[in-house]
Amino acid sequence: MRDKLCLVTGANSGIGRATAEELARRGATVVMLCRDRGRGEAARARIATRVDGARLELLIADLASQRSVRRAAEEFKSAHPRLDVLINNAGVFWGRRQVTGDGLEATFAINHLGHFLLTQLLEEELKASAPSRIVNVSSSAYKAARLNLADLQSERGYDAMRAYGNSKLANILFTYELARRLDGSGVTANCLHPGVVRTRIGRNAPPLIWLFFLVMKPLLLSPAKGAATTVYLATSPEVERVSGKYFVKQVPQPTAARTYTEETARRLWEISEKLTDLTAADPTA
Ligand SMILES: NC(=O)c1ccc[n+]([C@@H]2O[C@H](COP(=O)([O-])OP(=O)(O)OC[C@H]3O[C@@H](n4cnc5c(N)ncnc54)[C@H](OP(=O)(O)O)[C@@H]3O)[C@@H](O)[C@H]2O)c1
Repeated sequence: MRDKLCLVTGANSGIGRATAEELARRGATVVMLCRDRGRGEAARARIATRVDGARLELLIADLASQRSVRRAAEEFKSAHPRLDVLINNAGVFWGRRQVTGDGLEATFAINHLGHFLLTQLLEEELKASAPSRIVNVSSSAYKAARLNLADLQSERGYDAMRAYGNSKLANILFTYELARRLDGSGVTANCLHPGVVRTRIGRNAPPLIWLFFLVMKPLLLSPAKGAATTVYLATSPEVERVSGKYFVKQVPQPTAARTYTEETARRLWEISEKLTDLTAADPTA
């Protein structure tokens, strides 16, 4: 991975930090997108002590704020004309409905929309690096989804598991649609379930989920193991030309039939463009 530039969102904790560390170990320059400078600096310092000569940069952005995402994308572009690997990893699991400063339900806004916007804003840099890769960290929790495109903000009732599942289904639909749209560009897009991993994801989740993570802690995967499929998709020559797939334990797996409905993916894309004030003609508007 020497000479490769990778951007990892949510790189200060859990799977994202382990991913950043492993990519740095393999020689990549890693841009760590974190929302809090202090936590980002602490993660960068930790990786630097564990990986000799680690090349790490910090990029501060709150994925809940589209303004912040746009500012970060501009900051990235002013420093880098290209990007080899974009890893959309950051995620939240909120027990209660929260609304972002942009007026959007937070789980959907952070897990899907923030990454949708970031990816669109960095598309030219990814194309400039082709062959290049986009890796979206989804979850098998997508199976709990009941995606209602008319109520993406969960205004008609909030169920935490469903909201999280919907956002993870959106990650898959986004990946498949992205792969279709990027076909022939040299940029691949894949997604994955990392396994059930010992991280901080459960801390704001409903009590039962939080308890599950607490009780099961010793049996869960370590963050390094949880990062293995992400790292594989970001680095392995085996998947250089593979696109539009969902991986579990480094193996492509079929997803539920509804994830392959192109009409749903296209409509989600269009709604996401509207909610992020993007148009095909002017992606930086
Ligand atoms: N752990 C599992 O068992 C599991 C299973 C399936 C899928 N996943 C997926 O794995 C991914 C990583 O989660 P994790 O388990 O490693 O959890 P984690 O330890 O809680 O890490 C989540 C990361 O996302 C960041 N983040 C949250 N909100 C953000 C925002 N508004 N802007 C920017 N960054 C934000 C967090 O930053 P802060 O530290 O500042 O909050 C943190 O760095 C998620 O997409 C999750 O859905 C996890």
